[in-house]
Amino acid sequence: MQFLDAPILALESSCDETSAAVIHGRRIISSVVASQAELHSRWGGVVPEAAARAHIEAVIPVVDEALEKAGRPEIAGIAVTNRPGLVGALSVGVTAAKGLSLAWNCPLIGVHHLEGHLLSVCADLNGEPMPQFPLLSLVVSGGHTELVWVEEPGSYRMVGQTLDDAAGEAFDKGARLLGLGYPGGYAVQELAKCGNPKRYKLPRGLVKDPLNFSFSGLKTAMLRLVELEGDNLNREDAAASLQAAIVEVLIKKAMAAAEKLDASALALVGGVAANQALREGLKTSCNREGISFYTPDFSLCTDNAAMIGIVGSLRFAMGESSGMDLDPTPSAPLP
Ligand code: KG4
Ligand code: ZN
Repeated sequence: MQFLDAPILALESSCDETSAAVIHGRRIISSVVASQAELHSRWGGVVPEAAARAHIEAVIPVVDEALEKAGRPEIAGIAVTNRPGLVGALSVGVTAAKGLSLAWNCPLIGVHHLEGHLLSVCADLNGEPMPQFPLLSLVVSGGHTELVWVEEPGSYRMVGQTLDDAAGEAFDKGARLLGLGYPGGYAVQELAKCGNPKRYKLPRGLVKDPLNFSFSGLKTAMLRLVELEGDNLNREDAAASLQAAIVEVLIKKAMAAAEKLDASALALVGGVAANQALREGLKTSCNREGISFYTPDFSLCTDNAAMIGIVGSLRFAMGESSGMDLDPTPSAPLP
């Protein structure tokens, strides 16, 4: 498999991060992310209209900064997330990408957000080598909890998924109950450091099914715990118990799926892949089983345009491109 041997610009605006990056092959030349976390924290979740407006304000400065940091190279193509995501948010990136494609007379490619997360392990940020393929990928973010068999970049098979909430949602909803703001994954991780993960018993969903996940029972159990304990709740112990309930299930299932599918390589990607307990726990389990383990740099776990650029670079090299009829699409299967 090959990546385009020329600089391309990538844009990502599917949810609450406006991001632009310049990619050459799989090498990241520059990457800029403007987060809207503070804006949405006052509502405790992403407000689609507010997200779209904030993308409109941020997109041009973010693109300009990414180009400036890259030394303003001649751009050979533009990659943009066009699916899935919030339609108003997506349309800001797609419209900007179309305008730049026309202005610079270079091709455009629409990218599936999940494929971006999947190929984030291919990025060369600090000289990282390509991972080995095929590999089993655990994608865990605010919107996704999926196990995907990656035969090679560009060839994917969904093998398991959550039946209800995503792992990131479980972190965020638990965090909200603990008064930790939005998004709450990182705050739960930090509070959990001083807590006892065995203090509160929380459910582990669908333990017998190695390929699918369920986190909705955990959310309800957290709500009950907070109501029942009231002022007596030990927030550190609750955060540690919540994190353990999510991380334990993710590790157990990823390892069970790897065994079932006879995987010799495993990747951990998506926003929740930034979680230290998950990264370290999965790495230890993989080492024990002789499975190669890959996870990207923290900066490539939460939403970013660099991972979208890796996909664009691959797909341009495969001769693919999109037309000016490229539409933002709220939901779409993996390519
Ligand atoms: O990939 P991402 O930026 O957006 C989606 O595509 O959804 O993932 C965001 C999610 C949020 O739910 C956030 O709480 C979670 O990733 N997250 C974490 C950590 N950092 C971000 N969850 C647990 N531990 C972390 N350190
Ligand atoms: Zn994402």
